[in-house]
Amino acid sequence: MAHSYDFPLSPGKQPDKLPLGRNKPWLAPLAGYSDLPFRMLCREYGAACCVTEMVSAKGLAYNGTNTWRVLATVPEDTPLVVQLFGAEASFLADAVRTLRKAGYSFFDLNMGCSVPKVARQGAGSAMFRDPDNALQCARAMIQAAAPGHMSFKLRLGLNEENKPWLDIALRLEDMGAGLVTLHPRTAKQGFSGEARWEELALAKERLSIPVLASGDLLTAEDGMRCLEQTGVDGVMYARGALTNPGIFAEHIALAAGTSPKPASKKALKAMITRHMALISTLGNEENAVFRLRSIVPRYVRTLPGIRRLRQELCHCTSLAQLDTLLDEFLGQD
Ligand SMILES: Cc1cc2nc3c(=O)[nH]c(=O)nc-3n(C[C@H](O)[C@H](O)[C@H](O)COP(=O)(O)O)c2cc1C
Repeated sequence: MAHSYDFPLSPGKQPDKLPLGRNKPWLAPLAGYSDLPFRMLCREYGAACCVTEMVSAKGLAYNGTNTWRVLATVPEDTPLVVQLFGAEASFLADAVRTLRKAGYSFFDLNMGCSVPKVARQGAGSAMFRDPDNALQCARAMIQAAAPGHMSFKLRLGLNEENKPWLDIALRLEDMGAGLVTLHPRTAKQGFSGEARWEELALAKERLSIPVLASGDLLTAEDGMRCLEQTGVDGVMYARGALTNPGIFAEHIALAAGTSPKPASKKALKAMITRHMALISTLGNEENAVFRLRSIVPRYVRTLPGIRRLRQELCHCTSLAQLDTLLDEFLGQD
């Protein structure tokens, strides 16, 4: 099965326990973004643990190449958590068993995503519509995983009238969940309003298993504030890492009591060059150029001339052209 693919599927040896603590920032699951090259880049900046993009439990059952592509990994890509989505206990538990056989070790269930592709299946945040089924899925996955190796990523619930996250989290803890991540917004909110960090503090107060925070952690300062205000066991960067993979180094510097320096143009060029190299070694050049056209503007979005850069990037067809364009744009410090 997995062996004939044109991407690496070699999970590394995982630790017994996932790294937690104020100086151990994680990379959140990011569909379409937290692929192998991006995870490796974030690790180089200090990400203590990374979560894959969400993987369909059904897709895995039908052995789709695109599903396995999301699982691309190399031995250095560790500690790694594979995030699954689905709404049927048998598929989800089978996915855990299949992945354990393939060498993956830690798993997470997506109980927060509300994009139509996921919600239509009753998966992601739609699991809150049928808590009994959600708990049945959770139990089957916990039984299929090694003890303590199954985690759950929750939102508060569907909307203001339906916020059962705490009851569900307490049940998950009783069943043997190893960890819970909370993005304290409802599904209906999407990304609007503010993440309610007070709910994270409540999670910490009521649960004995570790709690990870997600939500409005856009800078390393946000991450440190969240740790201090809520007492959570760790933070997970999502949009903050997409625009600045260096956020992990900044977080670690702040946790050690030093102030991180703003990234120079030279440091930005080095970051982009490294991301390019990782995409081309772990993917292919055609794909690399295509991906980088959307990645590069994110990293340099605050610099003058960004509109023109975007236009010129559309005409780049090789990594060499892209490199020349970046030299022109970022120049030398
Ligand atoms: C582009 C994008 C893709 C995401 N994909 C996933 C996903 O696959 N699984 C998941 O549980 N959450 C996913 N999320 C949610 C993030 O992991 C995180 O919980 C959310 O962005 C809140 O954190 P932030 O406000 O610090 O960005 C995604 C978010 C974004 C912006």
